[in-house]
Amino acid sequence: MSSRTPDQSPDPLAERLAAAGLRAHVMTFGCQMNKYDSAMVAGALQGQGAVFVDEADDADVLLINTCSVRAHAENRVYSLLGVLKRRKRRQPGFLIVVMGCMAQKEAKRIAERFPHVDLIVGTRMLDEIPQLIERVREGVHTPLVAIDEKPDVTFGETIARRDSPFHAFLAVARGCNKRCTYCVVPYTRGPEASRSIDAICDEARRLVDDGVSELMLLGQTIDTYGRDIGTDLGSLLKALHPIPGLRRIRYVTNHPEECREDLFKEMHDLGDKVMPFIHMPAQSGADRILRRMGRRYTRARYMEVVEAARRNCPEIEIASDWIVGFSGETDEEFRQSVSLLEEVGCSFSYIFKYSVREGTPAMRLPDDVPQDVKEARHRELSSVQERISLEKNRARIGKVEEVLVEGVSKLDATRVTGRSRQFRLVHFPGGPDLAGQYVQVRVTDATNLALLGKTEGD
Ligand code: 5AD
Ligand code: SF4
Repeated sequence: MSSRTPDQSPDPLAERLAAAGLRAHVMTFGCQMNKYDSAMVAGALQGQGAVFVDEADDADVLLINTCSVRAHAENRVYSLLGVLKRRKRRQPGFLIVVMGCMAQKEAKRIAERFPHVDLIVGTRMLDEIPQLIERVREGVHTPLVAIDEKPDVTFGETIARRDSPFHAFLAVARGCNKRCTYCVVPYTRGPEASRSIDAICDEARRLVDDGVSELMLLGQTIDTYGRDIGTDLGSLLKALHPIPGLRRIRYVTNHPEECREDLFKEMHDLGDKVMPFIHMPAQSGADRILRRMGRRYTRARYMEVVEAARRNCPEIEIASDWIVGFSGETDEEFRQSVSLLEEVGCSFSYIFKYSVREGTPAMRLPDDVPQDVKEARHRELSSVQERISLEKNRARIGKVEEVLVEGVSKLDATRVTGRSRQFRLVHFPGGPDLAGQYVQVRVTDATNLALLGKTEGD
């Protein structure tokens, strides 16, 4: 289906939605791909005449984009759906849409336990949401469940409804062909499907026309982008590079098994626009645990990739994900994660306690690290990361950073906030007129979370 942008003449569906003045609100759980999907669904609905409101309480339709990667994310949605039951009773015209990974995986359970949900939409049917909402409004029996296995989602010419006017996510591939034993993503999002370079460049141009100058390309294992359609990430970066007005390109997530030195050579050659930052989850520093996780690389291989990255792009920063307390992880093996984090010197990390997921191969392994041990390991690895982040951030003091300014800081109206080329948060004195601009900022101080600075001449 192709969604229309507001400047096109409305189709009958748009007229109906617009006439209804549908007020919508979207809540997003989980990863950047979910944020992208939410922005696209919201953009499609907005293009059809819906109005987005800031508070869920003011909405006629609440879209909940869900995550299945850990039990915690699912439990939060289940309790939210429980709470919404009363509102639905009070306000029968209020529509509840559950979409994304949990909808895909748990549709039956959601429909049985929460019959007040109106619409359940899986990961590959998200582009159909405007029509599906219309069917519900026309009185189709609910919950309406749409989790068909289409090969892919295509949002046509939809412009994402983003949080930021200047920065946008762009999905270049969906799904995953890996089988990490703990991970539910291959089952919720299906096999990897790359989008064509032309489609991606078209979307990038539309975003740039809409004010975006920094893109973050999204793929579950971005290194394998294009393998299914006879192209690769380097070719995509080269195709995006000349787009006028596009100043920064980032991409996530790298997989250490697939990441090649050539990529860093290409990054170096395109260095003015491709940012010196990668997110490459290690998950563990112990070879036995990596094997049990089905990660198909060793700690030594991970370090080789890190060294290749730094050899070619000396300024590059590396972020990682870690799972603590995976099945069978001994204290000694956990120490190896601590030492790998220290050896790499990650600029930041996302750290997770292992959460058993139904349907994954690791379900057959015992979840034998006690919860309090998982918590202690989580605290310890987090504090090691905090220390490293602080050291690395302090090492920037005195240097000049190029910052894309997002806007006025939420905490201090006399300051603005943005990101450096290496994805560090930077705060410095300034006003709303700087939003969207690229500013040279001299770093004067640092915390583990951000750099503080001032513009030259201040
Ligand atoms: N338990 C804990 N963390 C997980 N992740 C993925 N699956 C699980 C799980 N079952 C983490 C990994 C991945 C990130 C997106 O979420 O670190 O990189
Ligand atoms: Fe999950 Fe592994 Fe695929 Fe990442 S690479 S989405 S952790 S299966």
